[in-house]
Amino acid sequence: MAFGTIIEPFRIHAVEPLRMTTPEERSRAVREAGYNLFGLRSEDVLIDLLTDSGTGAMSRDQWAGIQRGDESYAGSPSWFRFLEAVQDLFPFRHVIPTHQGRAAEKILFTAIGGPGRAIPNNTHFDTTRANVEFTGAEAVDFVIAEGLDPATLHPFKGNMDTGRLDEFLAERAGDVPVVFVTVTNNSGGGQPVSLANLRAVREVCDRHGVALFLDACRFAENAWFIHEREDGCGDRDVRDIVREMASLADGMTMSAKKDGLANIGGWLAMNDDTLAARCRNLLILTEGFPTYGGLAGRDLEAIAQGLREVVQHDYLRYRIRSTAYLGEALARAGIPVVQPIGGHAVYLDARALLPHVEPLHYPGQALAVALYEAGGIRGCEIGTVMFGRHPDGSETPAALDLVRLALPRRTYTQSHIDYVIEVCTEVAARVRELPGYRIVDEPAALRHFTARFEPVGRSG
Ligand code: F0G
Repeated sequence: MAFGTIIEPFRIHAVEPLRMTTPEERSRAVREAGYNLFGLRSEDVLIDLLTDSGTGAMSRDQWAGIQRGDESYAGSPSWFRFLEAVQDLFPFRHVIPTHQGRAAEKILFTAIGGPGRAIPNNTHFDTTRANVEFTGAEAVDFVIAEGLDPATLHPFKGNMDTGRLDEFLAERAGDVPVVFVTVTNNSGGGQPVSLANLRAVREVCDRHGVALFLDACRFAENAWFIHEREDGCGDRDVRDIVREMASLADGMTMSAKKDGLANIGGWLAMNDDTLAARCRNLLILTEGFPTYGGLAGRDLEAIAQGLREVVQHDYLRYRIRSTAYLGEALARAGIPVVQPIGGHAVYLDARALLPHVEPLHYPGQALAVALYEAGGIRGCEIGTVMFGRHPDGSETPAALDLVRLALPRRTYTQSHIDYVIEVCTEVAARVRELPGYRIVDEPAALRHFTARFEPVGRSG
C-alpha cells in the first residue's frame, strides 16, 4: 500500500443526529437509572459503546436486500439466499435460523444440557453461561493462563488450555455433550483463538469422543487476527481461514448481530442429524418454522449480504485498526487496558485503575458510570457485577473487573473516537475521587441488565 492511513472503506449515506447533554442532565439520568447504564434512554447517550451487538450500520446493499425480502412462511427465496451465504463459510449440514445468538444457545442446551452435564469453553459469554446453568449443567472455563492476565502480551490470548481440557475430559468425558470454543473470546477481552489451538482442541475432543462447537459471533475478526498473526496464514484469504475454522468443528452457535453485520439474527448449525431434528422441534416451539426461525425474510437477506461484506479484507483491516487506534491512545495516556487490543472492543482494566475500590464495590461499574457522567459515553461493566453472583447465591470477585468500550461496526468516525480518548483521559486523571457502588436490588440471574446500585463512600 502506498500510504499509511487506513481509511474507512465506505462513505456515509444516511446520518443519525446525536443529542448533546450537559453533565447535570447526565448525572440526573444515571441516578434515575439506578446507576445502571442499561437503564438509560439511549437518546441521553452521546457515544454508545455499550455493545457492538446489533448496533452497527448496514450497507446500501443490505438495505437493498431488506427491500427484496420475501415473507413467504415456508421455503422463501430469502431463506435459500441466507442458507447459501451461511454454508459458503460454514458448510454444516443443518442450519437452524434463530432471532439471535442466545436463542440458538437456549435450543442447543435444552437439547443436550441438564443436571450432571458439563460444558467446557475457553470463556463462556454471560448468556451462554446462563443458558448452560439454566438447564442444571455446569459451565467451566479453560482459557490459557495468559488470557486471565490483562497485561500479558500473547497473539492468541483466547486459546483454550488443552492440557486442562484433556484432564477434565479424562475424568468427565461421559458428562460432556460438547466442548465450545468462543471466537473471539469476548469475556476475555475480544482475544482471538489460533488455528493451531483449534486443531489441538479438536484432537483432544476426538480422543475423548466429544463434539466441538464454535461460538462464532466474531468469526471474521478472529480470522483476520489469524491472517495477521499466525505463521503461514499471511497470504490466505479470510474466507479460506473461516472455512478451516468451520472444518475443525461439528457445529456452531452464531449471533448475526456481530459479524453478520445485521441488527438482529443468529443461527445454530451442526452436522449431527439426530441432534438437528431435536433442535428443530424445539425451534418450532419458540422461534418458528425452520426456514425462518425467529426472523423476517428481510432479516435473512440482510444477514446473507452482511456475511459477504464481513470477510472483505479492506473492511477487516479498517475494523481491527480502528479498535487498536482507540486502545493504543488510551494506553499511551497511561490507562491500563487489556493487551493486546482485541477485535471489537477496548477493555479498560478498572481494578488496576481504581485500586481504592474493592472488587465487591464494583470498580468496573464505578468507572463506567464516571465515563457516562463526564462525557455521555456508555460502556459496559464486564466483571464482578456480571459474573460475581453464583447460582447458589454466593458472591465472589470475578477474575477481572473490566469496562468494555465496544465499537459498533461502521458507525463512529475517528473524531468520535478522539472525543472518547479525551473523556477517558480526563476521568483517569481524577480517578481517586470516584466512589464504589453497592447493589440495592437485583434479579436471580443476569443481574447486570437490571440491578440497581447506589454509591458508597471510599472503601479500603
Ligand atoms: N456469545 C458471545 C460470545 C456473545 O458475545 C454474545 C452476545 C452471545 C453469544 C449472545 O448473542 O446477543 O445475539 O443473543 N454478546 C453481546 C455483547 C450481547 O454485548 O457482547 P445474542
